[in-house]
Amino acid sequence: MTEILNFKDVELYYDHVYALKGVSLTVTEGETVALIGANGAGKSSILRAITGLAKIKAGSIHYRGERLDGTRAADIVRKGIAMVPEGLRVFPFMSVRDNLMMGAFTRTDKAGIAQSLDSVLTRFPRLKERFGQQASTLSGGEQQMMVIGRALMARPKLLLLDEPSLGIAPKLVQDIARAIVAISRDEKVSVLLVEQNSRMALSISSRAYAMSTGSVVLSGVSKELMSDDRIKAAYLGGEL
Ligand SMILES: Nc1ncnc2c1ncn2[C@@H]1O[C@H](COP(=O)(O)OP(=O)(O)O)[C@@H](O)[C@H]1O
Ligand SMILES: [Mg+2]
Repeated sequence: MTEILNFKDVELYYDHVYALKGVSLTVTEGETVALIGANGAGKSSILRAITGLAKIKAGSIHYRGERLDGTRAADIVRKGIAMVPEGLRVFPFMSVRDNLMMGAFTRTDKAGIAQSLDSVLTRFPRLKERFGQQASTLSGGEQQMMVIGRALMARPKLLLLDEPSLGIAPKLVQDIARAIVAISRDEKVSVLLVEQNSRMALSISSRAYAMSTGSVVLSGVSKELMSDDRIKAAYLGGEL
């Protein structure tokens, strides 16, 4: 399997907070990898490092064999990496259409953009029904679909999802999980999924990394981790 992402020995800190203490992980082509761990463990920092929003202090990030760290954020999007950030970042007063089109800001291929829009609306028919409506009128679940759709408008090869189930009605979490599985299958995109809902993340990923205070403490095949007593005790207790 070809590696699409190699994140190696990365250290990252903000002022005095040591957020990543030598973290290594890989994602291969077409694979869905989960990143689980409590609040503050460093999961979002990994995504911010990949997307160039936070500067790493040591280590390296390679994407499709090329050095990625040091690249400007907009160029990282152009290379095929799109992120769905934590906490439903929608443009509330813009229409669903305009929110989706924001995802294509690095693209100039009009026909390709129209094709991507068509495929997003086919995948999420609710967005098609609400195409001209203001984003603020959508439910939380619909907004999350829209933000995922916006990331797909960049036509990514690597999709980074930061807690897509956070704040979403439990009934809709399953819909989002199913959408992630379908996207990875249909668009041949690799997915790095950050989740506090470890059960959901482990159930739809092939491998996973469990984090605690800036370090990876356990990693392996998701199915096996799900029955690992240490994972059960620290990450699966009391959920769902
Ligand atoms: N912009 C920031 N400034 C200072 N500290 C930060 C900033 N962002 C995150 N941190 C700290 O870095 C650590 C890791 O945070 P984060 O990567 O957001 O964790 P997670 O996504 O797993 O909740 C935490 O201690 C957090 O408080
Ligand atoms: Mg986070």
